[in-house]
Amino acid sequence: RKPRLGAADIRARKGHEPVVCLTAYTTPVAKLVDRHCDLVLVGDSVGMVLHGLPSTLGVTMEMMILHGQAVARGASQACITVDMPFGSYERGREQAFENAARLMAETGCQAVKLEGGRHMADTVAFLVQRGIPVMGHVGLTPQSVNTLGGYKVQGRGHHEADRVTRDAIALADAGAFAVVLEKLPETLGQRITQEIAVPTIGIGAGVDCDGQVLVVDDMLGLFTDFHPKFVKRYAELGETADAAIAAYAADVRARRFPGPEHSFGAGTPA
Ligand code: KIV
Ligand code: NA
Repeated sequence: RKPRLGAADIRARKGHEPVVCLTAYTTPVAKLVDRHCDLVLVGDSVGMVLHGLPSTLGVTMEMMILHGQAVARGASQACITVDMPFGSYERGREQAFENAARLMAETGCQAVKLEGGRHMADTVAFLVQRGIPVMGHVGLTPQSVNTLGGYKVQGRGHHEADRVTRDAIALADAGAFAVVLEKLPETLGQRITQEIAVPTIGIGAGVDCDGQVLVVDDMLGLFTDFHPKFVKRYAELGETADAAIAAYAADVRARRFPGPEHSFGAGTPA
């Protein structure tokens, strides 16, 4: 069995090997992702993808801990990184430390991720100096959907591109081991990748990022409420599941299931 990857291993990939990441929220999916990925992200997207919430704003520490624990039972090699949910770190660095330490202690994850640029750099430095590896996240930051005014492409135009670049640099300087770049023009993904010394992990930020991440249910075709341009569907598991459930329902209605092979004889008591 290969040794567990940690934040330092992910950071060391810069300039060498692409960093392959997917989300996971459950033990069985974590087992699959763990076989092929370097980093498994327990994203707060879990709120929308598994719990039917309208945004990530309603996700709680308790949800992240439960899903983090489930993923930790399935992933033995990938660097498990757990998202800090909305409201758990923004008030100040002490609040952030308390909640990040709780995520690490209760899930056994290797790192946490939080959203925000320059205004979070002080918090990132505080956590990293105290033993908590932090992944940054700039560009489209879904926890700020209400101030951003939607899930739009970020960093378009010189002024905004400079702003996002300064955000990514501030996080790298603060000690983040990697930075997620979400929904940025391809050229900006390339520029930030050249300017910071730690891996950029793109989601809708072009092919030049040091790594890529997707929401696993999106790329499997299991979560189909939205289909962002940046998602490539590698399977249509939603359609497969729909057909399977329809066939089961028809079998039960026609009394074709269960068959003799699924049924128990009276037999002899043991
Ligand atoms: O919550 C999430 O899944 C994420 C990634 C898609 C970057 O933050
Ligand atoms: Na997230």
